[in-house]
Amino acid sequence: MLNLLRKPAVTSSDLARGLTELGLDGTQHVMIHASLKSFGTFEGGARGAVDSLLGRTATLIAPAFTYSTLMTRPTSLSSARFHRDMRVSRDIGRVPQEMVERAEALRSTHPTLSFIALGEQAAAITAAQSLDSPYRPVGALYDLDGYALLMGVDHGSNTSIHYGEHLAGMPLLTRYVHTPHGVLPSAFPNCSADFENLAPELEGHHREIRIGSSVVRLYRVRELVDATVRYLTQTPEGLLCGYRGCRCQDVRQMVRQHGLEPRRHVGL
Ligand SMILES: CC(C)(COP(=O)(O)OP(=O)(O)OC[C@H]1O[C@@H](n2cnc3c(N)ncnc32)[C@H](O)[C@@H]1OP(=O)(O)O)[C@@H](O)C(=O)NCCC(=O)NCCS
Ligand SMILES: [Zn+2]
Repeated sequence: MLNLLRKPAVTSSDLARGLTELGLDGTQHVMIHASLKSFGTFEGGARGAVDSLLGRTATLIAPAFTYSTLMTRPTSLSSARFHRDMRVSRDIGRVPQEMVERAEALRSTHPTLSFIALGEQAAAITAAQSLDSPYRPVGALYDLDGYALLMGVDHGSNTSIHYGEHLAGMPLLTRYVHTPHGVLPSAFPNCSADFENLAPELEGHHREIRIGSSVVRLYRVRELVDATVRYLTQTPEGLLCGYRGCRCQDVRQMVRQHGLEPRRHVGL
């Protein structure tokens, strides 16, 4: 009886069909942010999901962040050292970890904010990153008229919004990372907990379907970035969270002191 009540597993072909319905036909460059659990049971796990995604994209890219490498001061000795095969942080997910485990995938070298990419434009997109501009791979996607795909997650996971913040001129914090050239400063943003505040600005600018129990939404990176810049120009503190212990309060202070200083778009 219990078995009859259980939801059927979502398969790789269900996902492939859904991606086709969203308009992905294998020619697009797509950044993904995924929750496997959101599907209920996904047959084939992260491997099956990545196979389906690769079948419907020209380039597949995902954040592969490794937060254990980040230091608040240049003197900390305790932080982990980044390497190509370092495990992706748990709160970034199993799907990017599966991409990292594929030998042909290219990973950018930012110790904390690396991206993992497979396919046509993987080399160009990952090469676009620097310590000063960690989100520039999103700028590359902007130039390629790429997409951001949210699989069962909300804008709190939507990295493209950070690139919009960068262009709008949100102040960045300084953190430190171990690199082959020693400990270096790296620009680090406010958190993304309140990025859903942007949702009203994006109404009507995305496609959405349900696959199993997961809501899957597709956005053009250009829409996301441009909407973020418009929104922040009107509401500079609009994406900063209110949690007292969060680094967002340091960013808020800087916004109040200096305002926003817009930056130039540099993509590919
Ligand atoms: C945080 C986040 C990864 C959590 O989602 P999640 O579904 O719990 O985690 P994953 O996608 O890694 O999937 C693994 C979990 O799914 C479940 N799971 C495992 N196999 C599964 C399967 N075949 N089918 C469905 N669920 C499965 C398990 O609960 C597993 O968690 P566990 O390893 O702790 O047991 C997700 O909400 C998210 O935010 N993803 C995007 C991250 C991102 O791009 N952030 C950008 C930062 S700006
Ligand atoms: Zn915050």
